[in-house]
Amino acid sequence: MCEKCKGKYYITTPIYYPSAKLHIGHAYCTVATDTMARFKRLQGYDVMFLTGTDEHGQKIEDKAKEAGVTPQQFVDNIVTGEKGVLDLWKLMNISYDRFIRTTDDYHVAAIQKIFKKMYDNGDIYKGKYVGKYCKPCESFWTESQLVDGKCPDCGRECVDAEEEAYFFRLSKYADRVQDLLENTDFLEPRSRVSEMVNNFIKPGLEDLCVSRTSFTWGVPVDFDPGHVVYVWIDALFNYMTALGFENDKYDDLEKFWPADVHFIGKEIVRFHSIIWPAMLMSLNLPLPKKVFGHGWLLLDGGKMSKSKGNVVDPYVLSERFGVDALRFFLLRTFPFGSDGNFSNELLINTINVDLANDLGNLVSRTVAMAQKYFGASLPQVQQGDEDKDAELLAMAGSLRDKYEEQMEKYAFQNALAEVFKVISRANKYIDENAPWVLAKSEENSPRLARVLYNLLETVRICGGLLSPFMPQTAEEIAKRLGGAVMDWDSLAVFGKLPADVATVAGPALFPRIDMEKELAELEKLRQEAMKEALPAVEIEPYAQENVDFDTFCKSDFRAVKVKACVPVKKSDKLLQFTLDDGTGTDRQILSGIAKYYKPEDLVGKTLVAIVNLPPRKMMGRESCGMLLSAVHKEKGEEKLNLIMIDDSIPAGSKLC
Ligand code: ME8
Ligand code: MG
Repeated sequence: MCEKCKGKYYITTPIYYPSAKLHIGHAYCTVATDTMARFKRLQGYDVMFLTGTDEHGQKIEDKAKEAGVTPQQFVDNIVTGEKGVLDLWKLMNISYDRFIRTTDDYHVAAIQKIFKKMYDNGDIYKGKYVGKYCKPCESFWTESQLVDGKCPDCGRECVDAEEEAYFFRLSKYADRVQDLLENTDFLEPRSRVSEMVNNFIKPGLEDLCVSRTSFTWGVPVDFDPGHVVYVWIDALFNYMTALGFENDKYDDLEKFWPADVHFIGKEIVRFHSIIWPAMLMSLNLPLPKKVFGHGWLLLDGGKMSKSKGNVVDPYVLSERFGVDALRFFLLRTFPFGSDGNFSNELLINTINVDLANDLGNLVSRTVAMAQKYFGASLPQVQQGDEDKDAELLAMAGSLRDKYEEQMEKYAFQNALAEVFKVISRANKYIDENAPWVLAKSEENSPRLARVLYNLLETVRICGGLLSPFMPQTAEEIAKRLGGAVMDWDSLAVFGKLPADVATVAGPALFPRIDMEKELAELEKLRQEAMKEALPAVEIEPYAQENVDFDTFCKSDFRAVKVKACVPVKKSDKLLQFTLDDGTGTDRQILSGIAKYYKPEDLVGKTLVAIVNLPPRKMMGRESCGMLLSAVHKEKGEEKLNLIMIDDSIPAGSKLC
């Protein structure tokens, strides 16, 4: 290990299901993990930051089928395709050190070995899985998966069924896991501990079904063809296979295992705090030091989901507000352990208040004044005024340690609050010292230089501590301070900035956003996206009731030819058709299709009409019959096509 290193640090995100494009809720966890990883690197740790994708399972298999591609093609597109997972992490400036895909060969082979080891040590055994079976769908379901007692896919009756399956002796580890949860700080926040113990362990941990035969997209159990390994075993062990466990692809296990922390969302705490440690216990492996279950980012109080049409697109948000502003917002606004309600209003407000007003203003005012009063660089010799400066200096000088204390607790919001206390204090210091007044007399020049120095140095410390959250902004701030050093040691000491610091001017770091205008534009984009998310083609549901044959035969369908077609005045819907129906007398029909056709385009066409409907008056004109059209919806929009038949068919021909 390098001499300066404080030690090693291994941090992970969940590996994401590439069943659909990721949304801002997914980015939340990854941004938090990235911030922690950057913080640890800043402190001097040798960091391994792992993320990846969890690519097996029934859901992916089904989605691929729906899309008409193989499961591998399906996941490849979402992981490596345009605006896929890899693109998103690049956009969000995620500094992962390793990316694992559970379809990677080395991982698949390792999972097979791991499964076999637990089988050999007796913790995995073959038993019978009792559940429900839908014959037409060939699907096994648990009782709880059924919808109104019926197949959740097709709605038909299910039958009782048994299936051979492998089970993991989870029950055997109940006591040890309970002890781990209750008597160590393995799981945080603490509030999640009682939930796990009371809801899952105390009612009795049952052995876990860890193989499936109802689908094939998974890691095959190599000693029993037809079985695939339960996706959560496959998924959880990623944290170790990515380091080289049971494979030769990597050789970092000894160095980085056990993990320092797994960051995960609250709904998967059960898997990480009960099943994961139990499996590691089964294999006599060291347990991760900590699992931290963060809260959800909610929209209108509910979970983000594509089906609700409320998924927030991180591409749209970062394009409009900048990646750093988005990253900052996520960790500044919500306590990491609790749920938070996302809204565009909150996002814009945070940008305007914290970033444009407080931080942005401090940086631009300070640099602008340094340039205006002293040109390229501050004078070497400066004069202090200890009383007036004491508070700012004390706050900025002790900031790093306060910030560190919060960061070590994953309290990102509190760490940022500490930084922004100092930023506010610095803005107040500008007003107290009124540099523009000092600038009026030459004799105050040393004091003026001192005031500006104190401000620039405060900016340096704050900028450095913000760097894990907003890496690009911190880099820009360092540039404005003439390439200031922002390493960890220097952030604890006020006065590390050279006295003759050379500043560099630049545009506003975070321009103020016009709330009303921006909200309106976002709403427009949301509407468009919702339309985009609608099914490409929708057809009317089929009639439930049968009509008897004789009744149907009473309708008289005829081929008719359009002799003339004109719009009906004062109506934006109706067209008036003059039709040759083969009787020698013109027939007039009105049809509400003006939106879809230009009247002149229809002249000469052969259409289909029902001619024995009673005449109706529309806009004062008589309509004798009805023209047939085909209707469907495209992206939620009604589409209509008149039924046009071959022009060789004579007018008046009966259709039957
Ligand atoms: O659970 N707010 O994958 P996943 C906050 N493959 N976090 C959210 C969120 C939201 N609105 N929506 C999702 C899986 N997440 C498994 C993990 S790990 C061995 C296997 C978080 O793609 C969610 O809480 O469904 C979870 O931690 C992560 O995104 C991945 O979710
Ligand atoms: Mg999930």
